[in-house]
Amino acid sequence: MTSPFEGFSKLTLEQRQARLKEFAGLSHEEIEALGASGSSLTIDQAEHLIENVVGLFTLPLGIATHFNIDGRDVAIPMAVEETSIVAAASASAKWVRRNGGFKTRALGNLIIGQIQFPTVRDPEVFSNLVEANNAMLLTIANDTVPNLVARGGGIRELQVRRLARPDGETMAVLHLLCDPCDAMGANLINQVCEALKGPLEQLTGESVGLCILSNLVDTKLVEATCEISDITPELGIAIQEATLFANVDQYRGTTHNKGVMNGIDPVLIATGNDWRAVEAGIHSYMSLGGRYHSITEWKYEDGKLKGRFLAPIAVGTVGGVTRIHPSARVSLKILGVQHAEDLARICAATGLAQNLAALRALCSEGIVQGHMRLHAANLALAAGADKDEIPLVEQKLRQEARITLSRAKELLEQIRLAQAAALEDAAQLRG
Ligand code: MEV
Repeated sequence: MTSPFEGFSKLTLEQRQARLKEFAGLSHEEIEALGASGSSLTIDQAEHLIENVVGLFTLPLGIATHFNIDGRDVAIPMAVEETSIVAAASASAKWVRRNGGFKTRALGNLIIGQIQFPTVRDPEVFSNLVEANNAMLLTIANDTVPNLVARGGGIRELQVRRLARPDGETMAVLHLLCDPCDAMGANLINQVCEALKGPLEQLTGESVGLCILSNLVDTKLVEATCEISDITPELGIAIQEATLFANVDQYRGTTHNKGVMNGIDPVLIATGNDWRAVEAGIHSYMSLGGRYHSITEWKYEDGKLKGRFLAPIAVGTVGGVTRIHPSARVSLKILGVQHAEDLARICAATGLAQNLAALRALCSEGIVQGHMRLHAANLALAAGADKDEIPLVEQKLRQEARITLSRAKELLEQIRLAQAAALEDAAQLRG
């Protein structure tokens, strides 16, 4: 399978934009909206998004290449500041592509809203009342979101949970399971929960506490898998061992999972999605049952490395910032996704790819080597080097293997002094 992005990283910015434009069928305006020549979000739009605006904060937007997901070539926009993430995801995607690409699927499409009753006098009576009035409560709930219902979504189910309080009383929590279609659904479900507050208090004679969605969306799991045959048994077993390490030791598990999120968060940011919600949901899901574990599982079996990602990802392709932010809109077009489920599945594949890249490096040459070129270039930039000076400082830092900001500043000063001396010599020769 030849990748449509072969050689992409060697192209100039303009050439990369041209290749992307052709691949995703973008207009000149849409390329402009990616913000290469200044922020695409206007200050007026920003004023509508948050409060007390004083400016705009921009991040690099890169394209992770070579992804083949469920038989489709996908270019993945990633908004991220950390060096090597885009390159590492692309390298893994290339490897997986040679082996048939990623397979993904969604297991469930429901989000959860919670209506809390801090204490209920008789939990049995409470549950019976809710159950007996289930149809009426569902009607009130769905009447709150007629547009969602018209699109085929809506509240599907009510579930009563009973929780023991430390004071010996019982708390009840009503879960509303909602199909939000292509919205992330936070605003929708919060509205529905609040609309049910009055009717529920009247029906049960109990007082409602909080009404809010849950970010632990274990009703909206996404799976991504891949299988790699061109791998040595040593590396395959080492990567399997790395998963075991992540599962038995929470200190390692946290870093392992951070590496997975390195792939997911940049896609969420690029598409204007609530990455805090996904982060909270995934880490919480990984500690369900009281033990934190790895988001991914790698096994070396029958001469193949088999990887699996399984976690909740609630995202949207309509509503919120996804359609307001000009770059987010174009990022969705680049991804070629209409539906939230497709975006979630791409996120899962990207997380699996990113994790594979980290484990491959950690199990072979180590993580430092791969990070060094761009890290050195970053330090040169932070030291104040300009476009022409950055490669000179970067090269010297790497030659010396002393990659620190203070050394970058010293080297920059030496380079500038040497250049000034050379200019003076040249002037004397001429004069
Ligand atoms: C760095 O951003 C991510 C890693 O630490 C992930 C890992 O250790 O698996 C390299």
